[in-house]
Amino acid sequence: MAIEQTAARILCVVGARPNFMKIAPIMRAFNAPGSGLQASLVHTGQHYDAAMKHAFFEQLHIPEPDVDLGVGSGTHAEQTAHIMLKFEPVLDAQRPAAVLVVGDVNSTIACALVAVKKGIPVIHVEAGLRSGDRGMPEEINRILTDQLSDLLFTTEASAADNLEREGISRDKVHFVGNVMIDTLHYNLASATPSAHTLAEAGAAFTQGYGLLTLHRPSNVDDADVLRRLLTELAGISHETPLVFPVHPRTRARISEAGLDALLSDANILLLPPQGYLEMLGLMRDARMVLTDSGGIQEETTALGVPCITLRESTERPITVAQGTNTIVGTDAAAIRKAYREVMDLGGKAGRQPEHWDGQAAERIAVILARWCADGRAA
Ligand code: UD1
Repeated sequence: MAIEQTAARILCVVGARPNFMKIAPIMRAFNAPGSGLQASLVHTGQHYDAAMKHAFFEQLHIPEPDVDLGVGSGTHAEQTAHIMLKFEPVLDAQRPAAVLVVGDVNSTIACALVAVKKGIPVIHVEAGLRSGDRGMPEEINRILTDQLSDLLFTTEASAADNLEREGISRDKVHFVGNVMIDTLHYNLASATPSAHTLAEAGAAFTQGYGLLTLHRPSNVDDADVLRRLLTELAGISHETPLVFPVHPRTRARISEAGLDALLSDANILLLPPQGYLEMLGLMRDARMVLTDSGGIQEETTALGVPCITLRESTERPITVAQGTNTIVGTDAAAIRKAYREVMDLGGKAGRQPEHWDGQAAERIAVILARWCADGRAA
């Protein structure tokens, strides 16, 4: 008589907006019949606004979290500590075979640290990315989470080299591709057309627009940097109108720095944070994207849309080497030069990086199920 293998219970964690598009295909792959896995979901509540959470859960068909820790905002120490305190009893109650974390936000490191101290293996999806800039809170989260992880899934080849340099055994590392790009492929046909989102925007926007996002602390928390960026971007908007979905922290910093006026006579359309399908449509239809986001550098590469990155470094170098990304920094002349190159020469065409094919979550499920069946999980 065949002995039926029980599915390994994996507790998956999400906390902030960039986690949601990564977890959606993972939950789907793990909970597919015959995967050998059974996923439950904890939401830490790091992002709690409807625009930052609900739209994503609904649009991406992420199951309602089994547990919502409801931590909300705070300093980095407060937020990380609150997540840890609230996550510990959940782990005690659930005793999963492993905890899976994605990306590099405070929820990622907080839950990984709690799990590893309880002897529960940690799985990190999107491991090994490094900007080399320890001033970024995400870089600290990446380095520490990778050190704590038992199984590490990577999106590009450079990640394995970074991990090896930090003493992490190659046996633990698997190059599977990019789960965020799984979500992009899965949803592209349902993306909300930009014409729909921009219906009220006025005629200028129908001739082509740039899409702008800004939220990195290094760009928005320093009033001088923020003024320099917005001044240059307002100048560009007179030639190419800009659509700017504004992250809550950026909205607050613009007001605190007294910079609202800078945007008032510019051709910049300010929007609230957009849902996933609206943002996907805005990116797909844009002439170019100007951003300091990590994920958008990858999504524009997958879409073949030129991306001008308003940061000094990237933890996703494949988007520059093979994709459509150009790292420009925050210097006004450099931004203007990159903008002109896109306008005059069309920008980088790029090609699809290896394994960015919509199948990354399935690869993870197969490797993880085998790993659990080998008795490596708790
Ligand atoms: C976090 C992540 C960052 C990610 C970004 C995407 C860390 C260290 N950073 O940064 O990597 O790119 O999310 O959005 O985890 N706020 C709201 N509503 C919300 C959430 C936040 O109003 O639902 C406001 C609060 O004023 C809060 C501020 O935004 O203080 C910052 O939120 P927080 O989660 O601390 O960090 P992010 O800047 O969003």
